[in-house]
Amino acid sequence: MPAQLTSEPTVQDQFRRDVLDGLRAKPKHLPSKYFYDRQGSVLFDRICELPEYYPTRAELAIMRQHAEEMAHCIGSHGMIIELGSGSSIKIGLLLRHVPRPTCYVPIDISGEHLQEAADRIARKFTDVEVCPLHADFSGEIKLPEVVTSVERRVVYFPGSTIGNFRPAAARDLLTRIATMVGPGGGLLIGFDLVKRRDILERAYDDAQQVTAAFNKNLLRRINRELDGDFRLAEFSHRAIYNATHDRIEMHLVSDSNQTVSIGDAQVGFSSGESICTELSHKYRIESFNQLAAQAGFSVGRVWTDSDNHFAVAYYSIEE
Ligand code: AVJ
Repeated sequence: MPAQLTSEPTVQDQFRRDVLDGLRAKPKHLPSKYFYDRQGSVLFDRICELPEYYPTRAELAIMRQHAEEMAHCIGSHGMIIELGSGSSIKIGLLLRHVPRPTCYVPIDISGEHLQEAADRIARKFTDVEVCPLHADFSGEIKLPEVVTSVERRVVYFPGSTIGNFRPAAARDLLTRIATMVGPGGGLLIGFDLVKRRDILERAYDDAQQVTAAFNKNLLRRINRELDGDFRLAEFSHRAIYNATHDRIEMHLVSDSNQTVSIGDAQVGFSSGESICTELSHKYRIESFNQLAAQAGFSVGRVWTDSDNHFAVAYYSIEE
């Protein structure tokens, strides 16, 4: 193999930099996108099955009930670009009703998970052109060349992943999506709604402690990929609802004064000091509509589940 001459940072370099920057900051934090290595993706799929974790069930119920209407919004000759496609479960409910021809571009940060899911969709919908893209959608996205003649691009962004972004960053991402789909394009997006604190906190701190394992898996990943020596038993999982900012905050709290090595670097923790590992923002429908409007979208339709726990909305860009 020829020697690499470019100074492009590798994915691993970026991971190391993000981890060290986050752990040297005050307060300490880590980007939640790094949860999703192979083990993290498996743990997240288990979270989705938990009795306490209502978002997946609520969103699936909305999709089952309204998929036909949603598919009608998308129409034929569309390119459906899914951000954070994961196991590509929800898209199946939609593709059943989307008029053909259509093509499907799943984008995910977890490469192996992505390929398996894309293969499964391609086998199930043999007349849909499936073009998986292994990428971090918070960065630049270059859409693939496709065979299908595309008249409209629609981004499908389910799972309330948008909640991981602070409102200003969410607005920026929605603006980038608006640019990506262009005039006549659309956005079908799921977001989680503000609700009672106890329901929210239980959803992120389940009895079986799957969410705790998912949270701590980030430390395990740092140990493995960045030569770290985090002792997982010395950290505790916490999930708190911050009603001022309408968001769940997930933390790993150090149980003692300790020093952790990550490669050649050292990071000190005092007892009780926490690393914020995830923000999960909850919205009111009106405030989310406003965010979408600021990004250049007009409001199409909003669907909710019978408990009003979750919403899926279709927005479009005028021609
Ligand atoms: C994948 C970002 C939507 O915020 O609910 C679940 C991730 N974290 N339990 C969420 C998550 C802990 C999830 N999102």
